Amino acid sequence: MDTVIEGRAWFNGRFEQCCIGIKDGKIAAIKRDLSGDRTYHYGDMIVLPGAIDPHVHFRDPGFKDKEDFSTGSMSAAFGGVTCAFDMPNTKPATITLDELREKRAMASMRSWIDFGLFAGVTPNNDVGAMAREAIGLKMFMGSSTQSILVTEVRDIARAMEIAKERNKVLSVHAEDEHLIKKGPALSLNDHATNRPSKAEENAIQRLAKLSNGAKVNICHVSSPEGMAALNATSFTREVTPHHMLLDASVRLGTNGKVNPPIRTREDRDAIFSAFQKGWFNMLASDHAPHSIDDKHQEFGPAPSGVPGVETMVPLMLSLVKKGRLDMSVLVSSCAQNAGDIFGLKKGRISVGYDADLMVIDPGRTVRIEGGSLHSKCGWTPYEGWDAIFPASVFLRGEELIKEGSIVGERKGRDVVASQQLSGRSE
Ligand code: DOR
Ligand code: ZN
Repeated sequence: MDTVIEGRAWFNGRFEQCCIGIKDGKIAAIKRDLSGDRTYHYGDMIVLPGAIDPHVHFRDPGFKDKEDFSTGSMSAAFGGVTCAFDMPNTKPATITLDELREKRAMASMRSWIDFGLFAGVTPNNDVGAMAREAIGLKMFMGSSTQSILVTEVRDIARAMEIAKERNKVLSVHAEDEHLIKKGPALSLNDHATNRPSKAEENAIQRLAKLSNGAKVNICHVSSPEGMAALNATSFTREVTPHHMLLDASVRLGTNGKVNPPIRTREDRDAIFSAFQKGWFNMLASDHAPHSIDDKHQEFGPAPSGVPGVETMVPLMLSLVKKGRLDMSVLVSSCAQNAGDIFGLKKGRISVGYDADLMVIDPGRTVRIEGGSLHSKCGWTPYEGWDAIFPASVFLRGEELIKEGSIVGERKGRDVVASQQLSGRSE
């Protein structure tokens, strides 16, 4: 073995004291004892699969004052996220094959972690031509930051046809534009009134009517009405930490402005309780950084979006420690399910999978400080919250983060391109 990592690993749905043997970046064996060129002994610290975040906005190209692929991916790595899928609402938007390829070339130079790129759907772009090289397709049914809107039934149906034909996940921002009110908003409550649960419910129902067997994934579900609509479908379900941990009564002002909005305490509790039960397939940060200056405006013009890629797993680990979340739900929603849904050999401690791992010392709870995080935006809605950050993070068998510092090289790569190179293409 090139490397052996010994600790209490999450293996086959439980913790087991074992050695993970790694060869050429992949897990080659899991045994009681193994020897290798390099050995890491973590004793009774826990070893989990690196998280896969299926929804981030790293803002590159076009909005590098807010984030870039280097800072976004570094922030991810410090939070135990070893693979993230980037959204297309950049500038230029990722809506042509050339733009997708340019973004891939740029991200391959800058990324600290592995990544996938979403192809943006517009009413008339050739998203089919992009599909083979994209991790999935992204469609916005409601407007948000720099979004590319798709509101007409024929265009939505076309996106679903292409997703099915190309066997790609269609991730949808499901808020029906026709039901979003453009009235003045001075507070988080006003924002939630302008973007009601009904808009989410309706968008999901419109998609359900067009169901054709395509793999549709509903992003950032924010309401019980949305959940009820989803129950009648076979779509996969994504949830964010902010829709489970924050509501419109928090005193965050514009820093809590996000689409879909954070809503009432009851809504938030319903979402969290469904998450606890394993109802959601994937936890996603929807990391959407905006600079402090961009957020410090009047409520109306202030942009929507909250950062979160670095705090997602650490917040959840703290909830596990407090007995509010099962480790099995955390591992499946943060790693396993995204790997399965997007068809990657990632997200599990299992032979043949990429050796993307995080090592956790459960005793090490800290308070989150926006200024100490690695995103360019420099703030967090979770200032002062308890969190457990990984002590070490490995990307494909190489240690990347150790005790709060980067110790590895910048080796992030596009998971779709590398899969095709290794002969696993469709
Ligand atoms: O609040 C949001 N911010 N929702 C989105 O859909 C986009 C995101 C962004 O890119 O800022
Ligand atoms: Zn988003």
